[in-house]
Amino acid sequence: MNPNVKLARPEILTLQSYVYAAWDHRYERMHANENPWRAAGDNSLLGLNVYPESPATALHARLAELYGVALYQVLAGRGSDEGIDLLIRSFCRAGKDSIVICPPTFGFYRVAAEVQGAGVIEVPLLRSSSGFALNTDKLLQACKSNESVKLVFLCSPGNPPGNALNAAAMLNVCRELNGRALVVVDEAYIEFTGRPSFTNLLADHPNLVVLRTLSKAYALAGARCGTTIADAEIISVLARVIPPYAIPTSTVESVLEATAPEQRARIAEQIQTLISERGRLAEALRQCALIRHVFPSDANFLLVECSDADAVFNAARSVGLVVRDQRKQPQCGNCLRITIGTPEQNKRLLQGIRDAEKKSQVSA
Ligand SMILES: Cc1ncc(COP(=O)(O)O)c(C=O)c1O
Repeated sequence: MNPNVKLARPEILTLQSYVYAAWDHRYERMHANENPWRAAGDNSLLGLNVYPESPATALHARLAELYGVALYQVLAGRGSDEGIDLLIRSFCRAGKDSIVICPPTFGFYRVAAEVQGAGVIEVPLLRSSSGFALNTDKLLQACKSNESVKLVFLCSPGNPPGNALNAAAMLNVCRELNGRALVVVDEAYIEFTGRPSFTNLLADHPNLVVLRTLSKAYALAGARCGTTIADAEIISVLARVIPPYAIPTSTVESVLEATAPEQRARIAEQIQTLISERGRLAEALRQCALIRHVFPSDANFLLVECSDADAVFNAARSVGLVVRDQRKQPQCGNCLRITIGTPEQNKRLLQGIRDAEKKSQVSA
């Protein structure tokens, strides 16, 4: 047995799961109170009038194949947001347990913890001009001195930092916390790094959980499909908590189509274009007077420290683009986050910033 399963809330471990109307393709359905006719405009293969297959076997098989793991190691959710939420709801008792986050980081970890009534312990990343790094000693100290810690969220590449964390440091955290806490490595942007996924290490680290998403590299943010990947026993805990029929038919069908083997070359090419645009945009932004520093990025965005963040924000708007203000994130004063767009969008953004620079020189 995986000793980390006992970290889950006791009432979840003994929960009687909801019994849903299972699929049996030999029969026509008169067991789920569905409508026998399709709705207008329903072009789905399965029919939106019937509940989707639950669990979504074909979808899970595709995700397992895509991520190179076994079927029993994956659980699909509505975005990796749902994976985050399920982990916190399954492992953190309200008012008693906590998660650890390393700011600046993805905001939903905190929100999901607060909704659940779980505590949030912060161990800030260490900032330098070459990016943000884990403070491993402080992180381990925070976890080991506090029995309430059930989940540690490591975002790599980080959002908003952009750089990937040191793999050896993350593994060390995982090893040290085995049996005490789950270590959740959020790899939302891993496809842009060229680095191997932590899924390769699952067999040796029973407390490791990896989050992947189709929202970024696979261009399916609107389909809402993320995957939690972990040891089978941890996945079966989360599967008790996810609502029945969680993944809509339209999501299943779009994912199966968009990630089919014949689409992979196109997806890889698009990722390569975004990576080369990232390099080109970073270099050009470094030449801009309004930009003080461009952080190294392994993701599909750049974190930039501006000499005047409002001026850069408004320059983007003046050419019809919106970038993300990160000034409220710790250690990100004067910082904006810029998603890598099409070559045309990136060029337009640079033009907007250069025009703003010229205007400010004229008025100075
Ligand atoms: C680090 C990180 N994790 C998770 C998510 C959520 O992604 P999804 O669309 O899969 O819910 C995001 C979204 O921006 C993210 O940046």
